[in-house]
Formats: sequence, C-alpha cells, structure tokens
Amino acid sequence: MDQFRIRGGAPLRGEMEASGSKNATLPMLAASLLAEGPCRLRGVPRLQDIYTILDLLEGFGVRHEWRGGRELLLDPSGARTGTAPYNLVRTMRASVMVLGPLVTRFGRARVSLPGGCAIGARPIDQHIKGLEAMGAGIRLETGYIEARAERLRGARISFDLITVTGTKNLMMAAALAEGVTVLENAAREPEVVSLAALLNQMGARVKGAGTPIIEVEGVRSLRGFEVEVPPDRIETGTLMIAGAITRGDVTVRRCVPAHVDALTLRLREAGLDVTEGEDWVRVRSEGAIRPVNVRTAPYPGFPTDLQAQFMALMTLAEGACAVTETIFENRFMHAAELGRMGARIGLDGRTAHVEGVPALQGAVVMATDLRASASLVLAGLAARGETVVRRVYHLDRGYESLETRLRSIGADIQRVAE
Ligand code: EPZ
Repeated sequence: MDQFRIRGGAPLRGEMEASGSKNATLPMLAASLLAEGPCRLRGVPRLQDIYTILDLLEGFGVRHEWRGGRELLLDPSGARTGTAPYNLVRTMRASVMVLGPLVTRFGRARVSLPGGCAIGARPIDQHIKGLEAMGAGIRLETGYIEARAERLRGARISFDLITVTGTKNLMMAAALAEGVTVLENAAREPEVVSLAALLNQMGARVKGAGTPIIEVEGVRSLRGFEVEVPPDRIETGTLMIAGAITRGDVTVRRCVPAHVDALTLRLREAGLDVTEGEDWVRVRSEGAIRPVNVRTAPYPGFPTDLQAQFMALMTLAEGACAVTETIFENRFMHAAELGRMGARIGLDGRTAHVEGVPALQGAVVMATDLRASASLVLAGLAARGETVVRRVYHLDRGYESLETRLRSIGADIQRVAE
C-alpha cells in the first residue's frame, strides 16, 4: 500500500490542465454495450475504476485496446449479455450502469447488487423501479438482480430523488426501447449531458438532458461513437482549493468554468480572487480566508464530491461555519482525520460545525474514501510540518498521479510504499 508524505506550507503557484473526467468516462464505456460499431474515446484518465469497467466489459465480449496512453478503442462486435459479478461490482458501484444497456439490447441481464459503501447505503431502487416501469421483469436472488424483457417499452418515470447513475442507466435503457420514455426529476449533472450527446451521436433521440425532464424516443439500433472525454470538474475544483488553501496562485486550463460555478461562488465569498476565461480558471489568495456555509445539493448545487475538500479549506477560516451534507449519510469521515491535524470540527447529524484555527499541524492520517483522501492531501499541503496520508489507493481511484501534478506547481509531496 502506498502513502503520501507531504511537507506543508509552500504556496502552490502555476498552471496545469484538467484531466478527463472519470464520472463522464464510466457511462460512456457502458454505452459501448449499445453500439453496433467500433467506439473510440480520447483523453481517457488512467484510473483503477476505468480498468475495472473495462474488465467488466471484456466479460460481456467488448474488446478494448489502448492507443498512445489515453486513447481507447472498443470493439463491441462480439458483445453479449451475462453476469456482472459481485467481485467487480463490489469494488466499483458504477458497474451497475451496465444493467440498462444489457437488458435493453439483449433482453436480459444479471448484475450483482452493489451492497453498502463507505459513504452511505446507496441503494439502487430507483434504477429498478424505472426498468420495471419500462416492462422489465426483475428478480432479486442471492444478491443478484436479474432483469428480463422482450423489448423495453417507453414509460413515464418520476424519480423519487435525484440520482445521477439512475438517470444515466435509464437514459441508456430508453435509447433502444419501443416508444417514448420521459424521465422526470432527472439529474442535471454535466456527465448526464455528455452521455446524452454521446447517445445522440450514436443515433439515439434524447432531448432535455441538463434539465429535470429528459425525453428519449427509442430507436432500433445504435452506431459506434468517437468522443473526447470532457474535463473532470471535481479534479478542477480540488486543484482550485489547493491554490486557495496554500495561499497560492493556481490556474487550471482545459476545464469548463461553468461546471465549477458553485465552488467559484463560495471561494469568492471566502475572500479568494477567482478569475476565469472560456476554458480556464485561476484562484489567487489575497489574505484571510472567511468562513462560508455550504450545503451540498445535486447539480447545479454545491457538489458532494467537493464537500470534504471545501471543509479542509474552512478549517483555516477566520471564524465558524456549517458544512451540511444532504446527498450521502456518512460522508464526514475526513472530519475526525482533520481533527488529528488540529482542525476543530463538531459533527451534528448531517452538519459539520467547523471553527477555523490559525494553522494545522502535520500528522499521520488515514484516507477512507476518494474525496476524503483529497481533503487530507489539501490539509497536508497547508499544514505545518510533515503529514503522512495512508491508504492513498482510495485517492488513486479518482485522481491520476495527483502527487506529480501537485509537485509541478511547487508542492513537497512524495509517494512512498508503506
Ligand atoms: C454519482 O454517484 C457519482 N459517481 C458520485 O461520485 C457522486 O458523489 C454522486 O453521483 C452524487 O453526485 C459516478 O458518477 C460514478 P446518486 P451515484 O445515484 O450516481 C440515493 C466520486 O467521488 N439513491 O446520484 O451513485 C443515494 O444513496 C463519486 O467520484 C437512492 O436512494 O449517486 C444517494 O444518497 C462518489 N436510490 C443519492 O441518492 C437509488 O436508486 C444520490 O445518489 C439511487 C440513489
């Protein structure tokens, strides 16, 4: 197991490009199960979750080949249905996104139930409810979902809560269904919009992605696709906070500033100077960090995937604030670890009360999930002395070579074997 050793205190200064988005790439790869021709993706991040879904797709007859590091060619000509096994789904919940494509294209699918995970119970009842409304017969047996349907039928589906993966799964299922599907209370995340554009390129008829109502008119077959993966807005936000927390000056290029608006707004309220152009954002620190309350919400609200990183910043604010998590019920595991570094955080249900301190002290801390790990790295970059972040494999799931990138803008951070 690797760990990071960080010597904090240096302001980060410089610029870098955002990587391709993990959460946009995963559904695009799942969409290859719908394609009747070859698929090509450029700008794919080299992350464990990407390898996991490629393994899963191999099991369903979709072959892949890497070209030149970040380009991925997929050949779905031998695609078939089968079982998404527990050992893969357990390590990556996003695997459940093969359910919609498999059942709509091949008439049946068997996918392991994902089980709970570190940040919450994360049920998939909305995916199941949607597929049932489209006429699928669903059986839950020995930890597996078995779905069957001759051909799915369009239906009107109203989500009880906003679900990103649920929206993507049903959008893909509806693409080959008979008739029109209307998804109400749909997720509006940029990754939903990029998937809809991809499906339309394949010959699907999807309208309204990016709004709460998505309409999909089913077609008989879908072509292959060619796509450039959009930039990762959560990585962009994490790097922006790295600039802020180290009192530095960081520019992220090749990003979509509108996708991090909710963060930009809060950083400005906190006293940071944030400027942006068409495809870049720059964060400069100008003195004190002011406390700012945040409450996570589905897009375009403040992303749960930046809550931990923002909390790290607030531990150094001049005053107290409240950070409220409304999406996942157990996404505060970084709070106790930040406490080991001198942060003052009191938890009260879904709200963390953060009282800023003048400085954090380096300590040995343990990463528990992807974004919690990022917050510990950020805290370590700002802390006095040495911080050791253990179990960085969590971080590696969502950030490609974060330490190398941070080093390139002045961070003192090393990866060492534990
Ligand atoms: C996606 O997860 C992201 N993952 C997550 O990113 C992100 O935190 C989350 O959306 C929220 O933005 C990917 O895109 C691969 P949800 P997802 O379905 O789709 C409940 C990261 O750090 N729910 O929108 O699985 C659920 O329990 C990761 O990169 C149901 O109750 O999240 C949660 O409380 C972590 N029933 C809420 O809805 C359902 O059927 C939102 O979940 C589905 C969801």
